Amino acid sequence: MKAPKEVLLLSHFIPLLLLLPHSVLSSDPPFSCDSSNTSTKIYRFCNTLLPIRQRVEDLITHLSLEEKISQLGDRAPPIPRLGIPGYKWWSESLHGVSDQGRGIHYNGSIPTATSFPQIILTAASFDTFLWYRIGEAIGTEARAIYNNGQAEGLTFWAPNINIFRDPRWGRGQETPGEDPMMAGKYAISYVRGLQGDSFRGKGTKGSLKASACCKHFTAYDLDRWKGVDRYSFNAEVSVQDLEDTYQPPFKSCVEQGHASGIMCSYNQLNGVPTCADYNLLTKTARGLWGFDG
Ligand SMILES: *[C@@H]1O[C@H](CO)[C@@H](O)[C@H](O)[C@H]1NC(C)=O
Ligand SMILES: *[C@@H]1O[C@H](CO)[C@@H](O)[C@H](O)[C@H]1NC(C)=O
Repeated sequence: MKAPKEVLLLSHFIPLLLLLPHSVLSSDPPFSCDSSNTSTKIYRFCNTLLPIRQRVEDLITHLSLEEKISQLGDRAPPIPRLGIPGYKWWSESLHGVSDQGRGIHYNGSIPTATSFPQIILTAASFDTFLWYRIGEAIGTEARAIYNNGQAEGLTFWAPNINIFRDPRWGRGQETPGEDPMMAGKYAISYVRGLQGDSFRGKGTKGSLKASACCKHFTAYDLDRWKGVDRYSFNAEVSVQDLEDTYQPPFKSCVEQGHASGIMCSYNQLNGVPTCADYNLLTKTARGLWGFDG
């Protein structure tokens, strides 16, 4: 990617834990298929003995076109006639469960969560097991918050594994730094820990503790420079630089971390918006790397 030449460093979105006034009230998490409601028993998607794929296929057959469309944003509304609660896809957990997204609420008996150091510092330990244990603690706290009825989602938009080569990029402290191999190792450890996998990666057998997300896919490492903003800039990256620099962390995050989420970036890659890039999303992530999230 062409490097910015002038400084315009803006402190950027840093997930901070906001301490909100809290009450002692808490409630049950918003589960589908409420077993105390006999009318949910008629639905095949509520039958936990069936494989997940069959349950999903059944659920989709019940949805109208309007309901399907309503589920496409990050705030998926409830579908009361099927007993399906709403879902907030956006939560943050970069260095601790945060309420910067929409899914986590610190207004119950849990007023906050552990805030670990910024990633650029944690990464400097070069300690993959430490990274794993931090991810593990974050995943456990996320589950506890959910089980306490203070979460409307368990999908967390972390880790940020964009390569940090130019210190003028205002979000560098969110990342493990400039080395593609190191960023990849960080991604594997964090994702395994957060999702409930073992350190060596035996797999979660489909039962995630929480869901991690490799972001921002890809070549997104620039913002607010000479009128360039992250929402639309075109990252011009050679095939070699893509292979050597920008893709390795994402490849590791998917292949070895088995991340259940990927966030495409806002920018274009060589003229194609990454979120509409068949080559990137379908051929590379799903095809070559086996992404199945
Ligand atoms: C029971 O579930 C059905 C959907 O299957 C829903 O329409 C109904 O409102 C639920 N009843 C209660 C008391 O929650
Ligand atoms: C906490 O905040 C959420 C989101 O605004 C709200 O739905 C929920 O009812 C609140 N819970 C309490 C106990 O105030």
